[in-house]
Parts: sequence; structure tokens; C-alpha cells
Amino acid sequence: MNKASIIILAAGKGSRMKSIKPKVLHNISGKPMIYHIIKEARKISDDINIVLAHQRDIVSDEILKYFTDITFFEQDDINFPGTGGALRNIHVKHDKILVLNGDMPLITANTLKPFLTIDADIVLSVLHLKNPHGYGRVKIHNNEVKYIIEQKDASDEELMIRHVNAGVYAFRKNVLTSYINKIQNNNAQNEFYLTDIIALAKQDRLTIKPLIVDEKQFMGVNSKEDLASAEIIMQNRIKSKWMTEGVAMQLPDTIYIEDGVQFKGECIIENNCRITGDSIIKNSHIKASCVIENSLVCDSDVGPLAHLRPQSKLTNTHIGNFVEVKKSSLDGVKAGHLSYIGDANVQSGTNIGAGVITCNYDGLKKYQTKIGKNVFIGSDSQLIAPIEIEDDVMIAAGTTLSCKKVPKGSLAISRVKVKFIEHFFYKFFKK
Ligand code: UD1
Ligand code: MG
Repeated sequence: MNKASIIILAAGKGSRMKSIKPKVLHNISGKPMIYHIIKEARKISDDINIVLAHQRDIVSDEILKYFTDITFFEQDDINFPGTGGALRNIHVKHDKILVLNGDMPLITANTLKPFLTIDADIVLSVLHLKNPHGYGRVKIHNNEVKYIIEQKDASDEELMIRHVNAGVYAFRKNVLTSYINKIQNNNAQNEFYLTDIIALAKQDRLTIKPLIVDEKQFMGVNSKEDLASAEIIMQNRIKSKWMTEGVAMQLPDTIYIEDGVQFKGECIIENNCRITGDSIIKNSHIKASCVIENSLVCDSDVGPLAHLRPQSKLTNTHIGNFVEVKKSSLDGVKAGHLSYIGDANVQSGTNIGAGVITCNYDGLKKYQTKIGKNVFIGSDSQLIAPIEIEDDVMIAAGTTLSCKKVPKGSLAISRVKVKFIEHFFYKFFKK
């Protein structure tokens, strides 16, 4: 593989997203669009450069959360707006340069490699679309690119062209540096279009080859509708990868799994589940309509309709319907119905009855609940944290535990004696 530098253009305003958030930071499968691009780009290059301007600190801070070995350049977007302006004053390591738009989150290293093997001064990514709306149209003649015309500048005849520029370009370094400053801004948007470099290079008889690419890898995201379309494609990729690895999914079109999630062993995921963050699911069955956020689930079954919030850790555990777990560790536990378990550590053999609540918050601070082994917690009990329940304890149904500790082997019971008021019903309803 020829060595190449990669430049990702991420300085634009992204106004069609109608958002205060920079376009390249909108998420696809739980990670910013630009994250996906950088992740793939790094597989084929040791020199990744990103051009920023609009909200540059927000964008670079986010990128630096994931990657450190990145060079940032700043575009003078006041004097030189547009994709052509973005590439002025760039200095990169290698003689071959791959330029990528920052709004193409579906590209992969494998689909980028061919750009580096074709022998030409410029290689241009070209999509052939039934509906070319929004993209720059590419005029091709004898398998050479003649020019690109942006939609806003195109004649009626040019608008009919179905070959469009996908936004990936491979340049010889000297070609890019010698033409980039010649680009003018006499167009509908008064911007410096990188795409104009094609016609300039063509005048000098440089070779400009089209490389026909697939929309599923190269679509550009300019609007929230595009974002949703790209999300579907990325989700299908993620799910088909895991199914290939042996994960069973029922109605996978209804399941959402983020990029950082990992499955191990044999897992079954039923319909309508959402699994996010860096969750790890190992040898477990996730029943219908569960939400699992950034949690670990090992040798367990969860749901239907359960919610594991971040930092939950389940091993050998059964979680049933309408149970919410947050920042808790449960090992060998059963919590079959309607519970809230937050900031808790629960040990093996313990049964949590229906309606049990760890009262972990007093309005100011969060407190811990420790529950030992073989504890039986009767239904509708409230455990007011901080509290420790030692091993082999029974908590009677309906108990409110307002103590700091329940000693080993004991029964805890707090009940009001039942009163009977005879004939009350008949008096009340006057029957
Ligand atoms: C661009 C291409 C169009 C192509 C389409 C593919 C140009 C002039 N047009 O149009 O031919 O069909 O991509 O998706 O290049 N950016 C900067 N600085 C700027 C402006 C934009 O860095 O001043 C960055 C953006 O952040 C974005 C990328 O360049 O990541 C493309 O910009 P965008 O505005 O989306 O261009 P398109 O109109 O989609
Ligand atoms: Mg775009």
C-alpha cells in the first residue's frame, strides 16, 4: 500500500442540519460522525489531518476524547469559505493525499484503499444515483472526469447528470498544492469550491480518473433526514456483524445497538431492545423492549421491559419486567418484577421481591445500599440508604428499613397492626 496522508474537511457550518451542534459531531450509532471516519482512516494512514473552523474547539475537544494522534489545521473561513478554502496552507507528510468530506460516516478502510492504487493525478469518487439532488454533478468523458458543477450553479442540462461527486479525492501532493490557490469564488455561493480543481487540472491535461462507489458507503449527511438514513445503514452493519459472530436477534430491524457494544459467547436479543455505550453482553438473554446503557450483563436474563442504566453489572442474575437498575452490582440475584435498584451491591442467593425500592437519594446526595448473601426481601419494601443488610436476612413484605444495618440471620419487620371497623362499607355506601 502506498503511504498516504488523509485530510478530513470538518470546518463547515452544516447549516442544513438546523442545529447548534457542529455537523460532524452528530451521532451515528452512538459516536460522532467524524469518529467513524477517523477510525477507518487510521487503518490506512499514519498521518490524519483535520481542518476545523466553525466551533473548532468543541469539535477538536470531542475528537481528542477518542484519538490523540491527529493534526488540526484551521481554515480562514471568513476570507476563504468553502471546501477549496479549507485546503489552503495545509502541510502533510506523504506525497499522496486522500481528502475526505467530514460528513460521510459510512466510509470504510476497505472502500478507501482503491483510491490509493489507481495511477492518476487525481482520483475522484463518483456515485451513480437515480436521484442526484443536492450533490455536485460530475461530467465524465472517455473514463476521464472533465469537471464538477455544484447543484446551485448547474444548468438544466447538467442537473440531469446522474453521476455525482461523493466527496473523496486522491491527489498527488504537488497537484493539490499547485492548484488549490488558483480556485476562484465566482459562483452562486461565493465560496471556494474544492471541486473546481478538477476543471483547472483538466485544462493542463492532468489525468483525472473517476472511481465509481456505492451510496451505502459514500453518502453525505447534510440534513437530519440524511442522518436517519445513514443510521439505518450503520445499524444494519453493526447487527449483521454480531449475527455473524453468533448473536441471535429476533426482528433485528427493531433493535438498536451502538458501536461500542460487545457480545461474547451465545446471546439472544429479542425485538425492540436498545443497547448503548460500552455495554458488554455475555452468554445472556435480553428479552423484548429492554434498554441497556453502558452495563455489563454476564450469564443473565433481563426483561422484558427492563432498564439497566449506566454502570450496572449483572452476573448469574435474573431481572424481570419493570425493573430499573442503576450503578449497581448484582451477582446471583433474582429481581423479578417492578423494582428500583440504584447504587447497590447485592450478593448471591438474594431475592428481591416485587416493588422493592432502594431509596438512594435524599435530594442532595446519593447513598449506597449493601445487601449480603441469601437475603429475602419481601415485596414493597423500602431500603433507605445508606444501609447494609447482612447475610441470611429476611425482610418482611411492606417493611420500611430506616436503620443503618440489619444484622446477620435476623428478620426485619415494620408493620402497623391491622384494624377492622365493622360494617364500615355499608355505612359508607349507605347500602
Ligand atoms: C460537497 C461537494 C459536492 C459533493 C458533496 C458530497 C463542494 C463544493 N461540493 O457538497 O460536490 O457532491 O460534498 O457529499 O465541495 N467544509 C469545510 N469548510 C468549508 C465548507 C465545508 O471544511 O468552508 C467541510 C464540511 O464540514 C463538510 C465537507 O467540507 O464536512 C463538505 O461540505 P458540505 O457543505 O457538506 O458540502 P456539500 O454541499 O455536501
Ligand atoms: Mg455535504
